[in-house]
This record gives sequence, structure tokens and C-alpha cells, in this order.
Amino acid sequence: MDAALRPYKPEDVEALYQLDQQCYPPEIAYSRREMKWYLRLPGADCLVAEIGSDIIGFILTAQEGNLGHIITLDVTEARRRRDVGTALLAAAEARMFDAGVRRVSLETATDNAAAIAFWKKHGYRTQGVLKGYYSNQLDAYEMHKLLAPAPK
Ligand SMILES: CC(C)(COP(=O)(O)OP(=O)(O)OC[C@H]1O[C@@H](n2cnc3c(N)ncnc32)[C@H](O)[C@@H]1OP(=O)(O)O)[C@@H](O)C(=O)NCCC(=O)NCCS
Repeated sequence: MDAALRPYKPEDVEALYQLDQQCYPPEIAYSRREMKWYLRLPGADCLVAEIGSDIIGFILTAQEGNLGHIITLDVTEARRRRDVGTALLAAAEARMFDAGVRRVSLETATDNAAAIAFWKKHGYRTQGVLKGYYSNQLDAYEMHKLLAPAPK
């Protein structure tokens, strides 16, 4: 993976919005307003992956007590299958673990085969189906994982 990871800065918001628009169909992608709202949630944490000054991926999570939630994980299409998503997820999970999170949940569209394979590879298990989760149109799998300390 040739990208560098760093915490999000407020001036990144437009780039994150644009990337999210490219990564998801309109029923799932966040509006600018939603993106800003999620970034400002109490317990929100966002890491970006960049090459030079280009943001090529990001992960946005939120924490409430010992529960973590992955709000979104986005990698630009041209940079996929090069471990960028894996690196962002590992870093976000480590930060959540250090902050006391022991269980992480997420939702992913039931027709998103790449994402389902990605989450399963990283230890996430399907808990159930949320009917019409995205804009009352698309179903989602609810997935979760129990966090363990990262190997030293
Ligand atoms: C899902 C996503 C984040 C994966 O990011 P990535 O950087 O390409 O992932 P990685 O290179 O770290 O992939 C790790 C593993 O995930 C699985 N995977 C990723 N993309 C896959 C695909 N298109 N088909 C099958 N398996 C896939 C594979 O097991 C892969 O390991 P491998 O390349 O050794 O086979 C990326 O495809 C993406 O941004 N998609 C659009 C947004 C999205 O769906 N986000 C997640 C839903 S919440």
C-alpha cells in the first residue's frame, strides 16, 4: 500500500463528499449535509488515506461507550484491491480499541458483493437483514465483529 494515513481535517470535507458520491449509488451516498453531520457526531473519528495531496480513501467511525460503528469506508475505484481499505480498517479498529470499543457494527447493501467479501475477510459476521435500510429501497446486512487487542 503506497498511501499514507492521517486524521481527517475539516478542509477535507468536500473531497470526502466527492469520493463518497463516486463510491455509492445515489440511494446510499451521503449528501454534503449528511457528511458534515456524521463527521461532527460525538465520538466520530475519521482517517484518510492519501497519495501526495490526493485523498484516495477514508473511513468514518463513531463510538458510544464500548460500541463502535463504521459509518462508511470508501476507496477510490482506481486504487482498489491494493490494501487501502484493509489499512484504513486496521487503523480505525486499533483507534477504537484503544478508546475502549469492544464491539463494532456496520451496515452494507445486500447487493454489494465486494464489500461483503471485504468485511467477511476482516472477521465481520452477518447478524440480520435490515429491509429497505437505504432510502426505503435497498436492503442491508447488519454485520458485527468483537475486537481483540491488535497483535504486537
Ligand atoms: C469495499 C472497499 C472499501 C474495499 O477496499 P479495497 O481497498 O479495495 O480493499 P482491499 O484491497 O484492502 O481488499 C481486501 C480484501 O477484500 C476483499 N475484496 C475487496 N474487493 C473485492 C471485490 N471487488 N471482490 C471480491 N472481494 C473483494 C478481498 O478478500 C480482498 O483481498 P484480496 O485482494 O487479497 O482478494 C472498496 O471496494 C470500496 O470503497 N467500495 C465502494 C464503497 C463500499 O462499498 N464500501 C464498503 C461498504 S460500507
